[in-house]
Amino acid sequence: MDGVEVDWAALEAAAVSAMQNAYAPYSSFPVGAAALTVDGRIVSGCNVENASYGLTLCAECALVGNLHMSGGGLLRAFYCVDGAGNVLMPCGRCRQLLYEFRGPDMELMTTRGVKTMDQVLPDAFGPEHLEETR
Ligand code: THU
Repeated sequence: MDGVEVDWAALEAAAVSAMQNAYAPYSSFPVGAAALTVDGRIVSGCNVENASYGLTLCAECALVGNLHMSGGGLLRAFYCVDGAGNVLMPCGRCRQLLYEFRGPDMELMTTRGVKTMDQVLPDAFGPEHLEETR
């Protein structure tokens, strides 16, 4: 395991706080996401929709942007909530976003308890596959 202890309650609180900033007038489905980095920071994000519907930015998009704006690095743990504060599974695209920045022992809170990144996105495509053909 990485050196940082995961405080799931703190991550949940950060995700709920992020969710309260959501801009979701079209779906009325606010989402908040928070993650612990391997060096102990908490980064978060909310969903931001727009009139095109299809160009919606999921909460995880803002989260990975904030990860990089605050020094980059890799993720140790992830927590996502809906508008009621219930655990929400990241959508398929966002699992890919999270995979890109996974730390070696990344875990995610899911509707069925804590899982690893590999359990949530098995047999993933990743940066290593690009290297194979270069
Ligand atoms: N949403 C997220 O922000 N993250 C997810 O992983 C699932 C879906 C947002 C997108 C859209 O604004 C709303 O939830 C309904 O799909």
